[in-house]
Amino acid sequence: MNFSNHISSLKPSATLALNDKVNRMIAQGQDIINLTVGELNYYEPEIARERAKEAIDKHFTHYTDSDGIYDLRQAISEKLRNENFLNYKPEQITVSAGGKQALFNCFFTLIDHGDEVIVPTPCWSTYLTQIKLCGGIPATISTDEKTNFKITPVMLENAITPRTKLLLLNSPSNPTGAAYSENELKELSGIIRKHKLLVISYEIYERLVYVSHYVSVGTVSEYLQENTITINGFSKSFGMTGWRIGYSASPIAIAEKISSLQSQVTANISSISQIAALAAINHFNPENKVNLQENRDYLYKFINERSPLSVPNLPEGAFYLFPNISAVVGKSFKGKMIKNSSELCSLLLENAQIAVTAGDAFVAPNNIRISYAKSMNEIVRAAQKMARFFAQLS
Ligand SMILES: Cc1ncc(COP(=O)(O)O)c(C=O)c1O
Repeated sequence: MNFSNHISSLKPSATLALNDKVNRMIAQGQDIINLTVGELNYYEPEIARERAKEAIDKHFTHYTDSDGIYDLRQAISEKLRNENFLNYKPEQITVSAGGKQALFNCFFTLIDHGDEVIVPTPCWSTYLTQIKLCGGIPATISTDEKTNFKITPVMLENAITPRTKLLLLNSPSNPTGAAYSENELKELSGIIRKHKLLVISYEIYERLVYVSHYVSVGTVSEYLQENTITINGFSKSFGMTGWRIGYSASPIAIAEKISSLQSQVTANISSISQIAALAAINHFNPENKVNLQENRDYLYKFINERSPLSVPNLPEGAFYLFPNISAVVGKSFKGKMIKNSSELCSLLLENAQIAVTAGDAFVAPNNIRISYAKSMNEIVRAAQKMARFFAQLS
């Protein structure tokens, strides 16, 4: 079969593929603790379930506006104004099938062949794949523990070229959990303005922040207010990953193009999901965050005090730890030498029945990602299994 050039090099999402494999092993009866995927241990608010069932009973099951029903876009606009201090009108909002589609819409709308998109790494690899699918070039800025996985103004300015079209920021970050403070964003904003960059701010973990308050990128300067596309969604805050509800809020000219694109490619997301989102939007349960924070604190202490891995900086948000594995590279488990993070993950899966994701999937081969959105019981059990595994390294 002669496939198109752009699809030929496309690989499936590494994290989803691994999650599928682990779930198959669990279905076959293996006692594995799955700490791979960005999935939550809580569900949509009850009111969202009820309204969705009513929507079906009342036949709210036909096409809607392809950008999403007006009431939902208005509710999102109000949420962004009241909680994030961002000014986007309902007309500037497109509701899409998850943040994933919202992001693809933006890239497809803005990137021409050869355009560069600056992406700090470690990062979610979907960014890089989508940029390439749209003909763009990911211009990655490599960060590590020394700057708490954040870029500095100097790093940003060094990455800018005449082909730079966009800067992508993801705060708090998947996979590192690092979140930019207001001051750090202000420092970056000078360079962003100087080079007239357009920013995509991917804010999907915005409600899962454990520091004093969350700062949306678009609020730190007048320039950013006008030149930021904010992407967010219901997957992580509300445990609604399967409902597929994300959105982009863009400068109006961009929003109109995104709207045309979506109307031609998918049209509206499920009418029922939209009703569920409208019901959920003001029902975030802060308890969810408290439980995640307890898990983070427990695992952070465990990794640093009782394992050879290290997490120098306490992650500010999301639900991932991203330990550095350098201290175990070159060590052996029952005669098998650990050469990189993929091999460590395979050994952990086969011998400790713990599934975590190798850092290669996030352009960070010296790290592994542990998703800690589980019950505290499972987290404690996972830590015990890891401790037994690490005790056997020689
Ligand atoms: C940074 C980031 N963006 C987007 C997603 C997926 O979001 P959605 O379910 O809204 O497509 C994930 C999920 O793991 C993620 O980590």
